[in-house]
Amino acid sequence: MTDRTPVLVDCDTGVDDAMALLYLLHHDAVEVVGITSVFGNNTAAKCAHNSLRVLELMGRTDVPVAVGAENPLVGEVTYLATHVHGDDGLGDSGLPLEVSTPLSDLTAVDLIDELSQRYRGRLRLLAVGPLTNIAHALEAIPDLTERVVDIVIMGGAADVAGNQSAAAEANIIHDPEAARAVLGASWPTTLVPLDVTMTEIITEEHRTALAASSAPAAQFVAAVSDFYFGGYGFDSFGVRCSPCHDAVAAGVLTGDVVPSVFPRIAVEVDCTDGPSRGATICDTRGRYRAFPDQDGASCRVALVTDGTFADRLVAMLTSSTAGVIPR
Ligand code: RIB
Ligand code: CA
Repeated sequence: MTDRTPVLVDCDTGVDDAMALLYLLHHDAVEVVGITSVFGNNTAAKCAHNSLRVLELMGRTDVPVAVGAENPLVGEVTYLATHVHGDDGLGDSGLPLEVSTPLSDLTAVDLIDELSQRYRGRLRLLAVGPLTNIAHALEAIPDLTERVVDIVIMGGAADVAGNQSAAAEANIIHDPEAARAVLGASWPTTLVPLDVTMTEIITEEHRTALAASSAPAAQFVAAVSDFYFGGYGFDSFGVRCSPCHDAVAAGVLTGDVVPSVFPRIAVEVDCTDGPSRGATICDTRGRYRAFPDQDGASCRVALVTDGTFADRLVAMLTSSTAGVIPR
């Protein structure tokens, strides 16, 4: 094993999940040692398939991908975000869908168990989909919080509106009970909410540079993000663009993104059935006093970053020398 930090990514590969995976696969300080898929942007099965599409693009047929939960802890899945990520989950780009790499024959929880044992004391988790798999893993693996270094989560909204509802961000509202369990577990937790990810934007200018690049990873992101630009991006900002939610969370994990306001505060998840279901209630009352310590608060919440991550991501992808674009 190199001295790279082993990272397990739990994701619902969709467009920005793919950006996060490509960013990590290119990063020289981390090693993606496994991927678990969860419902959200599409079914867990399709999201796993999409993760394989990304891995094969980069020639990484060595990374195990395990299929996880198709439904939340409580009740049934209420929607899949195909309106945001396309019917195939990667922007209906027309790129070939076939993959030849088999899925892991392990369940998502078993893969988390195996890798957290193999890399005990070193493994970091990046969760960029609904937190159902992680909640199941906490239940099934009693010492999971001692096995892993920490968990970085893309999700929630502290002092800004949600995106799936006025109150709630998509990953959280898909499974609020799972989010409450994960955020309430005794491990170091970093939350990267919409407060930050809606300010880290891939613009049409960035996308033009990606499309003009000869790098397969850049061309892939240009192709799969077109749908996302014109739908979710346009609906959010009134112009074609793409908040790179999951990739920013990956940047916080690697340390490339250093939030300038990053307090350790209490975070509660609204699990009621009212209009605020899935809201992350972050105690930011200390905002005007430079956030004094809060007793018992275990979650660091990224509230402000400098908005330059998209430049870094695009530079990384356009200078990439790896990969073969599927034809
Ligand atoms: O709200 C954004 C999050 O929901 C991202 O993780 C995106 O991929 C979707 O899962
Ligand atoms: Ca995601």
